[in-house]
Amino acid sequence: MIRYARSGDRPAIAEVNRAAFARDDEARLIERLREAGDVLFELVSEADGEVGGHILFSRLWADREHLFAALAPMAVRPGLQRGGVGSALVRAGLENAKEFGAHGVLVLGHEAYYPRFGFSAETAGQVRAPYSGSPAFMAIALEPGAFDAPLSVAYPDAFSG
Ligand SMILES: CC(C)(COP(=O)(O)OP(=O)(O)OC[C@H]1O[C@@H](n2cnc3c(N)ncnc32)[C@H](O)[C@@H]1OP(=O)(O)O)[C@@H](O)C(=O)NCCC(=O)NCCS
Repeated sequence: MIRYARSGDRPAIAEVNRAAFARDDEARLIERLREAGDVLFELVSEADGEVGGHILFSRLWADREHLFAALAPMAVRPGLQRGGVGSALVRAGLENAKEFGAHGVLVLGHEAYYPRFGFSAETAGQVRAPYSGSPAFMAIALEPGAFDAPLSVAYPDAFSG
């Protein structure tokens, strides 16, 4: 089951991120994003009452009136990986981001993973951001033409903390 994260999920979300990344950085990033009010939404995947995966979308500051979002971080509990949980979270997250009115989503992530959902480095080619130029920096348009013109985005401060 995929649903919005609740405040009671926070310890489990931190634990899933720590376990998946084998470090504390992403759990701390999530806390900083929440404290700054920069989270657009968080989804969790739940099975048998336990959080098995988590995905977070935050807002970006673009030099346009439209909303653009960043996908980061996402994590699936190690014992549940490669079972489709991550894919379900990305797909639900993208649908939700569109409902929130986002015109496009950016991700800095595994080059072999995100293209299956429609992300590509080519789509991010005209985006000016701290990660521009990296093949791991990818974008997906949720509205037609979202990335057809040059776009500058600033990430929430939490990402540079
Ligand atoms: C990446 C992650 C979220 C994927 O979740 P998942 O539930 O395992 O993903 P799914 O089961 O939906 O998809 C599995 C596919 O993802 C691929 N995949 C998983 N981790 C990958 C990685 N690090 N790089 C490339 N592909 C990866 C698998 O090879 C598999 O591909 P296949 O379907 O062609 O066999 C999960 O592996 C994870 O939490 N990893 C550690 C944290 C992390 O790297 N987060 C993402 C940061 S960008």
